[in-house]
Amino acid sequence: MKRCIFFASALVLCLALFAPPVMADKTFKIRFSHVVSENTPKGWAANEFAKRVNEALDGKVEVKVFPNAQLYGDNQAIEALSAGFIEMAAPSSAKFVGSVPALQLFDMPFLFANLGVVHDVVDGAIGDEIRTMFEERGLGIKLMTFWDNAFKQFSCNVRPLLEPKDFEGVKFRIMSSDVLEAQMKALGAVGLKLPFSEVYNALEQGVVDGQENTASNIYTKRFHEVQKYLTFSNHGYIGYAVIINQKFWNSLPAEYQETISTILTEVTAEARKKGVELDKEQSALIREYAEKGGDLEIFELNEEQTDKLQAAMKPVHTQFSDVVPPRWVEKIKTMK
Ligand code: LMR
Repeated sequence: MKRCIFFASALVLCLALFAPPVMADKTFKIRFSHVVSENTPKGWAANEFAKRVNEALDGKVEVKVFPNAQLYGDNQAIEALSAGFIEMAAPSSAKFVGSVPALQLFDMPFLFANLGVVHDVVDGAIGDEIRTMFEERGLGIKLMTFWDNAFKQFSCNVRPLLEPKDFEGVKFRIMSSDVLEAQMKALGAVGLKLPFSEVYNALEQGVVDGQENTASNIYTKRFHEVQKYLTFSNHGYIGYAVIINQKFWNSLPAEYQETISTILTEVTAEARKKGVELDKEQSALIREYAEKGGDLEIFELNEEQTDKLQAAMKPVHTQFSDVVPPRWVEKIKTMK
């Protein structure tokens, strides 16, 4: 009997010692790095995603968001994620120029008629193709979803920007996309690629004369306070590829993956609405700044001016056929 008890206890001890670690005890940490303020479409979506995952998975998966380029500037975030130094990020399409250059599709000027077209593209066959591109590139990066920011507005310190001739010789800060460089060249302007975190100083110190960005990025980083002329041009789109380190993703239990995917789908849908609200709100705040005595003049484009700008930038649509499939561009031109 005593021997039996001894063996039984030894067995229990062995099982305890050599049993695989109990998943329930393991905490998975997600560091989500981005470069913008919290009061922007991406800032809102990242925080909302973190809050919901932390609640739903009760600390088993802990998401911590690092905004304002606290961890990585946008040009380093993709490499850092690929190397596993962070788990999640949502860089704008322009930042993928060196990794998935086809994403420059979203930087094409005057290509997307409205946000609905962007959504149909990312939710449809082109979105699927882009997902596959991420897999095939072997970057160790999984594309989870796409988030909106909004359409971009031009500003500068040289003169009001209304027609192509106004852009002549003006130096603009641009994101790292070659499409944006070509866009500026098509206007007779110069595009200087700079990280987002350096834009305010570059404008203030005259390293560049102007910039293009969304109302939320302009307002929350106070670019309008160091610019004299701002044109509501809506000439191009900014949106984000929400990415996760593939190895980290694979290490998550299937049920956690499912919860995270479901939350991302919900947050993406809500962020589309929130993005429109923030764009409206922050455009109004920029206008209010100008009206209340800020050293800033606001301009709207009339139809003729829009047509001229559009015509000047149109050649860019066909200049990148080696990296952005022309059939995508042609298809999007027909979408309303
Ligand atoms: C920029 O660099 O202007 C944007 O990509 C910033 C952002 O993430 O919206």
